[in-house]
Amino acid sequence: MLKILRAAAHSERTCAAKSEGLRKCSSQATQIKYPKRIFSGIQPTGSVHLGNYFGAIWRWVELQNSNEAVLCSIADLHSITLPQNPQKLRENTLLMTATLIACGIDYKRSILFQQSKVSMHTELCWILGSITTMARLAHLPQFKEKSESLKNVPLGLYIYPVLQAADILLYKATHVPVGQDQAQHIQLAQDLVQIFNRQFGQTFPIPHTLISDGPSQRIKSLRDPAKKMSKSHTDFKSRLNLLDEPDELLEKVKKAVTDFTSEVTYDPEKRPGIANLINIHSLFTGQTTEKICEEAVGLNTGQYKLKLADIVIEKLSPIRKDILRLTREPAYLDEVLKEGTERAMELATSCWTEVTEKVFGNDIQDVKNII
Ligand code: AMP
Ligand code: TRP
Repeated sequence: MLKILRAAAHSERTCAAKSEGLRKCSSQATQIKYPKRIFSGIQPTGSVHLGNYFGAIWRWVELQNSNEAVLCSIADLHSITLPQNPQKLRENTLLMTATLIACGIDYKRSILFQQSKVSMHTELCWILGSITTMARLAHLPQFKEKSESLKNVPLGLYIYPVLQAADILLYKATHVPVGQDQAQHIQLAQDLVQIFNRQFGQTFPIPHTLISDGPSQRIKSLRDPAKKMSKSHTDFKSRLNLLDEPDELLEKVKKAVTDFTSEVTYDPEKRPGIANLINIHSLFTGQTTEKICEEAVGLNTGQYKLKLADIVIEKLSPIRKDILRLTREPAYLDEVLKEGTERAMELATSCWTEVTEKVFGNDIQDVKNII
């Protein structure tokens, strides 16, 4: 059983996004008999950007530090739905492990593990795939987005959200912290819980989606504030990565698309570019957007960008240094993942036993009439 975790000192880098509330997106209350358990995942595809940091990772750290039972999965099975070089995938898995630790995930308190090492994820995916309709999957926006540019669409990309539901259900997770772009995937997991429970008897709690109320749910691209900051955007200046050198961060913030008004004012509708920068500023420092604008009176947007770049560099430098230090110890990172995987496996096995009994039956006493 996952222990209810002991209190621990807040990470030094605890940052100001804390003040943002978490909104429960599901209307159904978690049933009391299920212990509160948080599950989330992230694909090991390259460097983490500020969208991932504020939209997801930072939330996990916040929940972990307020004593919640948190499982963090490095979703390598999800990442192979698009072609990956095996060597690079292995390296990226360790890089993600280092990144999560540097961001404050404490692998002793939380369970940090590699998804593909727990084979029950794919087994449960098969069972859930058998109760999912194709129509339900075809309309999910992420599938549409990712398959758009492909001539031959891999089946994996299509069933990707079913695997995501399996991730969540296998640990009977009650809460799933993610950015806004994942909301519909979690909704599918909620639907599958209901279908499964109806068909096979009460087994899983409904997982609540935890999405922040504030701007961290969707950090925007620096090049096109109508879009989210994303790993897949071809323009590397569109995102601030945790591993960027200070010079790169400065350059990207300086080049961030704003508008022709020179004052610094906060109007996400009319001035989305500068509002995105102010949001990033606010998330890092905890200052309100009003206060930030007040302090920026007399600065033009160019001057304000220099101020913001200083803050971003100051906040990200220690994380970057930590990631670099940890990546010099791959054997240690591998050990961390193995330990996490063992703990995940223990939880998964108990759920999987229950699921197979319900779906296939296993008791010879139940056999009444073979013919
Ligand atoms: P991905 O990079 O798609 O693997 O996303 C990992 C996590 O980061 C998921 O919970 C996403 O919802 C979250 N995320 C990704 N991009 C953003 C963004 N621009 N703003 C907020 N959250 C994001
Ligand atoms: N699909 C998620 C993403 O791209 C990552 C993920 C995999 C996940 N499994 C999960 C998120 C389970 C939440 C719960 O961001």
